[in-house]
Parts: sequence; C-alpha cells; structure tokens
Amino acid sequence: MKFLVTGGAGFIGSAFVRLLLARQGDKAEVVNLDKLTYAGNLENLAAVSNDPCYRFVHGDICDAKLVNSLVAETTPDVIVNFAAESHVDRSILSPAPVFETNLRGTFTLLEAARTHKTPRFLHVSTDEVYGSIDPPYEANEDFPLHASSPYSASKAGSDLLALSYYTTYGMPVMVTRASNNYGPYQFPEKLIPLMVSNALEDKPLPIYGDGMQIRDWLFVEDHCRAILAVIERGRPGEVYNIGGSRALPNIEVVKRLLAAVGKPESLMQTVKDRPGHDRRYALSSAKIRRETGWHPRVPFEEGMMATVEWYQSNPEWIAHVKSGEYQSYYHHNYANRAAE
Ligand code: NAD
Ligand code: TYD
Repeated sequence: MKFLVTGGAGFIGSAFVRLLLARQGDKAEVVNLDKLTYAGNLENLAAVSNDPCYRFVHGDICDAKLVNSLVAETTPDVIVNFAAESHVDRSILSPAPVFETNLRGTFTLLEAARTHKTPRFLHVSTDEVYGSIDPPYEANEDFPLHASSPYSASKAGSDLLALSYYTTYGMPVMVTRASNNYGPYQFPEKLIPLMVSNALEDKPLPIYGDGMQIRDWLFVEDHCRAILAVIERGRPGEVYNIGGSRALPNIEVVKRLLAAVGKPESLMQTVKDRPGHDRRYALSSAKIRRETGWHPRVPFEEGMMATVEWYQSNPEWIAHVKSGEYQSYYHHNYANRAAE
C-alpha cells in the first residue's frame, strides 16, 4: 500500500510513519510531505530515514502545484493528513498560520485527491471541535461542533470541508477525532512534555487557572493504531472518535509527572488562565470499537512512565527543540501571565 503522509515530521505523524514501516515492512511505501515548521523535526524520523520504503519531501500542503504533482507522481492508495498548526495557545497568539495550513492546506490536498481519484483520504482531527462537554456526557460523532479557539475552529472547518467532498463528489474521505495525545517526541509546548522538561530543569510549571480542566489522555501509538484501523476497516464519509478512556484533571497529571521525575510540587505555579479555555473534553469511542475492533492498549500509568523515561534519556533532543524560536514563544506566552 502506498501512503502519502502529511506532517510526518511532527509528533503524531512521525509515530505513524515509524509504526507503518515497522509493521508493514516492505509492503508499505511511505512518502512524507512536511514543511518543517517549528514543530517539524527530522530527528523524529532518524530511525527510518534510510529505509528504502520511505521518502521525505520538504514542502507546504498549501502549495497546490507541488501537492498536485506529488499526488500525480506517487499515486498514493491513501492520503493521511496530519499536517497542521496544532497548538491552542499559539493559535490564540497568532491565528493566521493556523487558518492558512489547517483550512487552505486541507482544501489543497482534497482538490489534488479529487483530481487524481485517490482511493482513500483520512483527515486527522481532534475532540476539541466538540468544545467543552458538561459532565456526565461524552461527545459521540453526532454531537454539535462548538469550537472555542482559533485552532479548534480551523479543525472543525477542515473536518466539514473534508466531509463535504464525500457528500458532494463521493470522495472516500474519513475523519478521525482523537483526544489529547502524549508520548515520546512531543514538542514541549503541550502540557505533558512542557511540564516534564521544565521539571527536569527545575523551572516553574505553569498551571492555567485552577488546573481542574479535564482532558482524556491517549498514548500516541494507540492513536496511530486507531488511524490504521480506520484506514483498513472504516467506512467512507464517516467520522470516528478516538478517546484514551483516561480522563484526568490537569493538576493531577502534573502531580503524577512530578512524582515520576522526583521533583517537588512546589515547582507548580498558578498563572492566568487561557482565554476561552475549554473546561472538559470527553469522548465516546464506541463507534470505532464496534466497527473496527480497536481499543487503547496502553494504560496511562505505563504510557506516562515510558514518556518520562524517554525525555530523561533524550536531553539533546529537548535542548535542540527548546533553542531558538521556542524561547521567544515561551516568553510571549508565559512572561506576562506569570506576573499577573
Ligand atoms: P505537530 O505540531 O507536532 O506536527 C505538525 C506537523 O505538521 C509538523 O511536522 C509541521 O512541520 C507540519 N506542518 C505544519 N504546517 C504544514 C504545512 N503547511 N505543510 C506541510 N507540513 C506542515 O502536531 P501533532 O501533535 O503531531 O498533531 C498532528 C495532527 O493531529 C494535527 O492535525 C492535529 O490537529 C491532530 N491532533 C493532535 C492531537 C494532540 O494531542 N497533539 C490530538 C488530536 C488531534
Ligand atoms: P495542551 O497540551 O495545550 O492541549 P489542549 O489545550 O489542546 O487540550 O493543554 C492541555 C491542558 O493543559 C489544557 O487544559 C491547558 C493546560 N495547560 C496548562 O495548564 N499549562 C500549560 O503550560 C499548558 C501548555 C497547558
């Protein structure tokens, strides 16, 4: 099977490429189209860079000429669209690139897939499109979309665009909506890697507001297996939720991380809350379980320990991604917040 993966140098995309090549061996050909933004990192793919079944193409999913010729040349059996501006806080500080990549980029890929009649198109999305869910409810795939941030609004828009290509053109599009991922190689702007890497450096851990916001944690390899299950057994035109079945308040996650690295809770520092902060995400994954047989395999405790150990063993990776642009982003997002 030939895969065109976009955003394969990021956190989840690189885990997916590594899984594909490990699992399918020479039965898979993988082309990875990635712009290498601040979040893209070819070090995440060092293990597969010499694999004859793998090819990297440096480029932008918004570049219609490039995307068209790549789809024409590679004739993929499936396009898997991970490429995105993926961080809520950055989308609040600077929404323009979020709309460009997440909407125009998805549109550009869909158009190329339509022109070249790509047999499968999987658009990777997020539970954030449902917005905050009051307890005790869980969002199923028919829940209304209530995006709160520029990030989640752009993902909701791209989901609808992708699904419209099924309804209008009969294109075999599927959308997956996953809960919060964690695992090795995650950029330290998201909660878990930021807290672990700060704790390892004895830096303050910024807790937004009261820290009682709830997220449902999904180990990245479980997410990648779910995407493969949807590609293999999902139905065109359908949305599939992918939850981790492990809902925890942020403060609880951070306390466990501190215990795992042996650092004191006094490192936690309450800072001003995120504007429009969603209180609780909760997903029902009954549909993907029923239709594909997928279920998450990695319990949070196990995945968290594996993640912490990975960050402890990879100080060069952390130092590299935290140099340069990261410093100005960190200052921009956190400096005034802490003072307030
Ligand atoms: P990430 O930020 O780690 O990686 C994004 C990748 O996309 C990077 O390699 C980047 O270089 C690339 N990219 C960005 N703009 C591009 C463009 N215009 N053209 C080509 N490549 C471009 O993101 P992630 O956490 O791996 O998320 C991957 C996907 O999964 C996203 O679509 C995101 O919305 C979705 N998702 C993420 C989570 C999560 O918890 N991280 C949960 C659910 C869904
Ligand atoms: P994040 O990893 O940014 O994912 P998302 O906002 O997409 O769910 O944040 C997860 C939760 O952690 C969210 O409720 C915001 C909170 N958070 C903090 O309290 N402090 C931080 O420094 C960050 C990055 C997040």
